[in-house]
Amino acid sequence: MRRTIIKGIGHYIPPRVVTNHDLEKIMNTSDEWIRERTGIVERHWAEPGVGTSDLATEAAIRAIEDAGIDKSEIDFIVAATLSPDHYFPGIGVQVQAKLGLKEIGALDIRNQCSGFIYALSVADQYIRTGTYNKILLVAAELQSANLDFSDEGRDMAVLFGDGAGAVVLEANDSDDGRGVLSCHLFSDGRFVSELWMEKPSSKDNPTFREEFFHQGKFFPRMNGRLVFKNACEKMPQAVMAGLEKLGLTVNDIDYLIPHQANDRISQMVARGLRIPEEKVIRNIHKYGNTTAASIPIALSEAVKEGKIKPGMLIALTAFGSGFTWGSAFIRW
Ligand code: UT7
Repeated sequence: MRRTIIKGIGHYIPPRVVTNHDLEKIMNTSDEWIRERTGIVERHWAEPGVGTSDLATEAAIRAIEDAGIDKSEIDFIVAATLSPDHYFPGIGVQVQAKLGLKEIGALDIRNQCSGFIYALSVADQYIRTGTYNKILLVAAELQSANLDFSDEGRDMAVLFGDGAGAVVLEANDSDDGRGVLSCHLFSDGRFVSELWMEKPSSKDNPTFREEFFHQGKFFPRMNGRLVFKNACEKMPQAVMAGLEKLGLTVNDIDYLIPHQANDRISQMVARGLRIPEEKVIRNIHKYGNTTAASIPIALSEAVKEGKIKPGMLIALTAFGSGFTWGSAFIRW
C-alpha cells in the first residue's frame, strides 16, 4: 500500500529574540503573567522587510537539503499560513519563485493553527493517488507585524511568534509500515468570530476604511477562555479518532506533538489523553505560538535532537481559528 513519508524536514526561525521583559517595555504586561498563563519566555520576530514567504523559503531550503534531493524533483507545493505576504496571492507561488522551481502547481491552505495538519492531509491524498511523487509542504507565519499592544490586544500580542517549518513528502511503496497513517480533520464554523481578524472583509464596500483602522479591527482578536476550553477538549478527541481508526491505544504513541498554542493547553491535552509529559514535545517557551508553523518546527527540532527514531509512532494534533482542529499519525 502506497503511503506518504517525510523524506526531509527543516525549520527556520528569524534571529531577533524578543523576551517577555522586552514586551514589558512596550505594553502593559509582565514576564510573570506571560510565563504563568502561557509558559512562553521568549519568541522571535522577523525584521521589517522580511515576509512570510522568506521564512517559508528558508525552511524549505533546509527541508530539501535534509531530503537529499535536487529541488527540481519537487512536483507540487502546498503552503499553509494565516499571515501571507499579501492579501492575494498566497505564499505558495512566492516560495516556488524564490526557490527557482519550474512551473509546478502551488496551493495555499487557510486553516490557521490547524494548517499543517490540513495541508498534510491534502498532500497525502495527492501522493497516495499517484498524482504527485514529491511534494514540498511549507508552513510559515509572520505575526509580529500586526499585533495590538494596547490592553485590548495584549492577550494575543504576548502569544505569537514568527517562524517556519517545512517537509518534503515522498511516496513509499514498500511494506515497511512507515508513513502518514491517518489524518482526521474537523471544523465548526459557528465559532468564526471567537478567534479571527475581522477586517479586511469583502462584506464592506469599500473594504479598507480608516474608521476600521482606528477601531482596531485589523488586529487579531479572540475569546481566549473559550478557545482554551475547546482546544483542551477537541485535540484529545481528534487524537482518539485517529487511534480508533488505526486500532491502536494511547500507549502506542511514542511522541505527541500538540500545536504549541499555550503550554497549559499542551499539558491539559496530555493529561486528558493520559500521556506522560516526557512523551509530549513542547517548545513554546522559546518560540511562542507560531500558528501553522508550530507543529513542523517542533517536529523538525525533535528529529534534529535525535528524539524521533525510525519506527516510532508520532501523533500530531492542532486546534485553532475557524474553529478547525484535527490529528495526524505518522509511523516515522
Ligand atoms: O493558537 C490557537 C489560538 N490561541 C489559543 O489557543 C490561546 C487560548 N487562550 C489562552 O491561551 C488564554 O486564554 C490566554 C493566555 C490568552 C489568556 O489567559 P487567561 O487565563 O484566559 O486570561 P484572561 O483572558 O481571562 O484574562 C485574565 C486577566 C484579565 O484581567 P482582569 O480582567 O482579570 O483584570 C486580562 O485583562 O489577565 C489580563 N491580561 C493580561 N495581563 C497581563 C490579558 N492579557 C494580559 C497580558 N498581560 N498579556
